[in-house]
Amino acid sequence: MENRSQFGSRAGFIMAAVGSAIGLGNIWRFPAVAYENGGGAFFIPYLFALLTAGIPLLIMEFSIGHKYRGSAPLSYFRMNKKVEWLGWWQVAIAFIISTYYSVIIAWALSYSVFSVNQSWGSNTESFLFNDYLKLTVDPGQTGSIVPGVFIPLLIVWAVTLGILFRGVKKGIEVANKIFIPLLVVIFLLIVIRAVTLPGALTGLDAFFKPDFSLIADPGVWVAAYGQIFFSLSIAFAIMVTYSSYLPKKADITNSAFITGFGNSGFELLAGIGVFAALGFMAQSQGLSIDEVVAGGVGLAFVVFPEIINSFPAFNAFFGILFFVSLVLAGLTSLISISETYIAAVSEKFGISRNKAVLFGGGLSAVLSILFATQGGLLFLDVADYFINQFGVAFVGLVEVIVVVWFLRQLNPLQAHADNVSDIRLGLWWKICLGVITPIVLGFMMFGLFKMNLMKQFDTPNGNYEGYPDYFINFGGWAVAGFALIFGFIIAVKRWHSKANADSYKEVS
Ligand code: ALA
Repeated sequence: MENRSQFGSRAGFIMAAVGSAIGLGNIWRFPAVAYENGGGAFFIPYLFALLTAGIPLLIMEFSIGHKYRGSAPLSYFRMNKKVEWLGWWQVAIAFIISTYYSVIIAWALSYSVFSVNQSWGSNTESFLFNDYLKLTVDPGQTGSIVPGVFIPLLIVWAVTLGILFRGVKKGIEVANKIFIPLLVVIFLLIVIRAVTLPGALTGLDAFFKPDFSLIADPGVWVAAYGQIFFSLSIAFAIMVTYSSYLPKKADITNSAFITGFGNSGFELLAGIGVFAALGFMAQSQGLSIDEVVAGGVGLAFVVFPEIINSFPAFNAFFGILFFVSLVLAGLTSLISISETYIAAVSEKFGISRNKAVLFGGGLSAVLSILFATQGGLLFLDVADYFINQFGVAFVGLVEVIVVVWFLRQLNPLQAHADNVSDIRLGLWWKICLGVITPIVLGFMMFGLFKMNLMKQFDTPNGNYEGYPDYFINFGGWAVAGFALIFGFIIAVKRWHSKANADSYKEVS
């Protein structure tokens, strides 16, 4: 069992963890979330969530993976046989996310090509929805497969699974060591150009100007926690899986701080770049920032092409840089998301890594075709909304309650982390995980369930009113609920090698 794959070094692991964390969520999600939730004032709840939930949970997940040395289900099984389902639930969530996350990377790949001659034209909104996505069907209908999305999607999966086939050290580690430094260099170029554009300061002013009246709004806190969880890849089974590949004597706590601050640093950089560019566009069109800001699909694929159109020079160059940075950030996250089920399936059924990549990755690739149809964006929108709210945030709450309160694992996990790390965990860690995080998250989930049952929410790209009930029930609740039920069902099946599943060598 000690033949388990390993990263070549701690630096390789950190690169992979940072690669997983930095993703589409940093570039297109964070800037708009921060702006809508109080601008500069949002940094208070954001930092609070990072320091009291993000980094403490990261340390906990790193410790679990490193101590129990298995995929998420196997690690939880080894912690206590009764909680294997928790690992599968997280793996199922990661699997669902991988089916549509890959499609957004495919769009970015297409747009890297469109950047060459700005083939999106002057009406970038109509181009996205009508010409590119061919979204002419009603919600819930698929229409036909859109070749312009399907072909880049095949490329995205071929690259991702190709890297995963090569294994942890030669595949995941090497890819991250190339992609992440490249991403940082490209992104710095974009940000330097953006902040030197006319009007950039107006954009930055809007981004950083605090609106303290929003600080008392619980919704702002929900947004901050949601952003930290998604962005740090917490409660996705990812960080448990990755840390199970750490060399035995590797610092855990320090690695978690580097990953957490590295991710937030990049997020801030993305916010600065995006808002400087928005300031430029607002000024060149004589509009206010409010009128040009958008989140999600709108920001990356409607507003950014427009900004590229009005660039003073090197339009194609900066367009390509921006969309390539989305592709790189997305790919390193998709690799980590897919590794969760590849590792889990291979251990549970005793099949080789290659077979697990083929079956697990292959199944996700086939299912992702749904989102490459004419109605794909609407399916994506609903699945993403529900899986994030009731998947990631909810499973995060359950994880803390189960590990900390029911299994009382904080002391043994702290002993494990302290044993291999320079920084010692103190009371701060225990109070954050034992008290602050469960209370804040519990309060947040209660509010969310109430709001959703009363159907008062807007999905990022449309609003609830526009979607028929069966679509929300099936596409949203059923998908999120399926992940949990799947977790319980598969946990009933025995491990392929019971003796192996039961035994593990603790790092001493
Ligand atoms: N952490 C990844 C992101 O931010 C999933 O996109």
